Amino acid sequence: MNYLRTFPTIRVGLVASYVGAIALVSTILAKPSTSAPAAAVALNGGATYIGEADCLVCHGNVNKQFSHTLHADVFRLNQQNEKEKITCEACHGPGSKHSEDKKNRSAIVGFTKEWGTPVAEQTAMCLTCHQGGQRMFWPGSTHANSQMSCSDCHNPMAKISATGLLKKQSINETCYTCHQQQRAEFSKRSHMPVNEGKMSCVDCHNPHGSPSKALLKTDSVNETCYTCHAEKRGPFLWEHAPVRDNCLSCHNAHGSNHVKLLTVAPPMLCQQCHGNGQGHQASLFNASQIVGGGGAPNTRIMSHSCQNCHSQVHGSNHPGGARFQR
Ligand code: HEC
Ligand code: HEC
Ligand code: HEC
Ligand code: HEC
Ligand code: HEC
Ligand code: HEC
Ligand code: HEC
Ligand code: HEC
Ligand code: HEC
Ligand code: HEC
Repeated sequence: MNYLRTFPTIRVGLVASYVGAIALVSTILAKPSTSAPAAAVALNGGATYIGEADCLVCHGNVNKQFSHTLHADVFRLNQQNEKEKITCEACHGPGSKHSEDKKNRSAIVGFTKEWGTPVAEQTAMCLTCHQGGQRMFWPGSTHANSQMSCSDCHNPMAKISATGLLKKQSINETCYTCHQQQRAEFSKRSHMPVNEGKMSCVDCHNPHGSPSKALLKTDSVNETCYTCHAEKRGPFLWEHAPVRDNCLSCHNAHGSNHVKLLTVAPPMLCQQCHGNGQGHQASLFNASQIVGGGGAPNTRIMSHSCQNCHSQVHGSNHPGGARFQR
């Protein structure tokens, strides 16, 4: 009467629900296949569940790796519901037709590219248990729209990463398998300490989807940056408009060959927006004043450039800080 443990509250509840529970339990006992989610009824060509012992007769080798995973622990030792008890078939679907005809590729859900199960069918298997939460925005997300399956990043058949059942040893390596350009960005002269292991892609991104662009975890670029650089949020008495608008006006999010992840080297960084007729800055930095430009280089612009005087570029709380000099 193992199944009754699933319904402890119902047992002490109304008589009507008690009767209902018994009816449900007997249905489960009589026909194990009906305990599967409704959507999975016609799965694998209408096959029935045969139990993991049968799978292991032929797939004993894969079980050696699988038994070290979190799913194996939960499904075998600490099942919370009927779905989890069916172990292998919880993900691969019912296996009766497959064990009769191993070559029939529509008789079992396979998660490898070679097997050819449609991606939507694969993800549906995982989502029966993992819908919502972090995967709230999976449908329609960039990765889902790129025809990616959960198994492009996850390999639940072996414990390769410390957490997350990933395909590679770390989150970053998993992402880099496809995002080579980002690998290069994080190798630039100044970069977020991702390769140093101090943070990972999922500190800023949710690979399962998000309502904002570039799969960011928060509503906007700035909110993402504030989660760690809270002091840049302010409030400031004197705000610098582009800082409030978007950190990426001046910084790259991943890495850059200029100091402090700047998009452009100062003073040109500032001169993109502060040009002629807008105060002194253009004349301070005209071509003739650059080394080799003909005139004498202006000593005030050496090394640190504009920040020599405007040191509080992110905003100032000093009463006299309207020009971000203090
Ligand atoms: C009688 C032996 C046998 C039994 C029983 C059996 N399989 Fe298989 N299975 C095979 C063989 C052989 C293949 C490879 C077929 C091929 O490559 O054409 C296979 C392929 C698979 C694949 C596809 C692998 C891929 O390339 O993606 C999955 C998934 C799978 N089996 C899962 C199961 C599960 C789950 C069970 C238990 C419900 C099970 N099998 C029972 C023999 C068996
Ligand atoms: C949590 C979901 C899940 C469970 C439970 C699960 N599998 Fe898998 N299985 C997968 C995924 C995902 C892949 C594809 C892995 C990859 O990308 O290489 C896979 C791949 C396979 C393969 C083909 C690749 C290989 O490693 O040879 C076989 C065969 C297989 N599983 C059998 C089983 C058997 C037998 C069990 C039960 C002991 C089982 N699976 C339990 C999800 C699962
Ligand atoms: C029958 C339900 C069920 C199915 C189907 C299922 N899982 Fe899980 N999964 C669980 C449970 C239970 C846990 C344990 C942690 C928890 O409670 O969330 C878990 C944990 C995980 C974790 C977290 C591992 C960790 O180290 O924290 C990942 C990743 C995961 N599953 C991926 C998958 C993928 C990918 C698939 C499809 C191939 C899949 N799951 C199918 C029930 C399921
Ligand atoms: C683009 C790569 C990628 C794809 C695709 C992907 N995941 Fe993940 N997933 C990750 C990473 C990275 C983590 C974080 C692992 C960690 O924190 O150790 C994660 C964590 C998880 C977790 C554990 C955390 C939690 O939310 O409970 C589950 C469960 C999970 N993924 C399920 C899925 C399922 C189901 C799918 C398919 C619908 C999927 N993932 C698709 C990369 C991916
Ligand atoms: C199997 C290949 C693959 C893996 C692995 C992968 N991605 Fe992607 N990713 C893609 C594809 C394809 C796109 C969309 C096309 C493109 O790159 O322009 C994409 C797009 C993105 C985008 C841009 C989204 C947008 O809407 O602009 C982000 C951010 C991203 N991936 C982050 C990650 C992270 C973080 C991981 C690791 C957890 C990861 N990806 C792993 C293939 C992958
Ligand atoms: C410090 C936060 C942060 C980290 C860590 C981070 N990203 Fe991003 N990433 C961003 C932001 C912000 C954007 C948005 C750029 C934009 O809006 O133009 C972005 C954009 C992207 C894009 C879209 C293309 C592009 O460059 O605009 C991809 C792909 C991507 N990131 C992948 C990754 C991968 C892979 C990792 C881990 C190796 C990673 N990111 C780590 C913040 C981060
Ligand atoms: C998960 C935490 C985290 C998030 C989110 C984050 N950062 Fe960082 N950032 C760091 C850490 C850690 C360092 C390294 C500090 C150190 O080494 O002293 C750093 C360093 C920097 C630096 C200085 C780099 C250097 O060479 O000294 C800049 C600029 C920066 N971040 C900008 C941003 C921007 C812009 C965003 C949003 C796109 C952002 N950060 C999001 C953690 C974060
Ligand atoms: C108008 C251009 C500009 C904008 C916009 C901007 N920054 Fe900066 N940031 C700079 C400059 C210039 C430096 C280098 C300061 C120096 O010389 O040390 C810098 C340095 C940094 C540093 C490292 C030194 C420090 O002060 O801690 C961090 C972290 C940082 N910025 C985060 C941010 C965040 C977060 C945002 C968005 C809220 C942002 N920045 C927006 C220009 C900008
Ligand atoms: C993306 C455009 C942009 C960039 C890049 C930029 N600024 Fe600004 N800055 C502005 C805007 C817009 C204002 C507000 C002007 C206003 O209120 O009239 C401003 C205001 C200022 C002010 C105050 C001027 C005033 O009239 O109140 C100073 C000083 C300043 N910026 C210095 C800098 C320095 C130094 C840099 C380089 C580190 C820089 N800015 C980079 C757009 C930018
Ligand atoms: C030697 C110190 C010094 C340097 C270097 C410097 N500034 Fe200034 N900046 C000032 C002073 C002083 C003012 C005037 C403050 C006032 O009038 O209240 C000023 C004013 C400004 C203003 C406001 C102009 C206005 O019309 O009110 C902007 C914008 C500005 N600077 C941008 C820059 C930029 C961009 C750079 C680098 C290209 C730069 N400054 C380099 C000292 C400097």
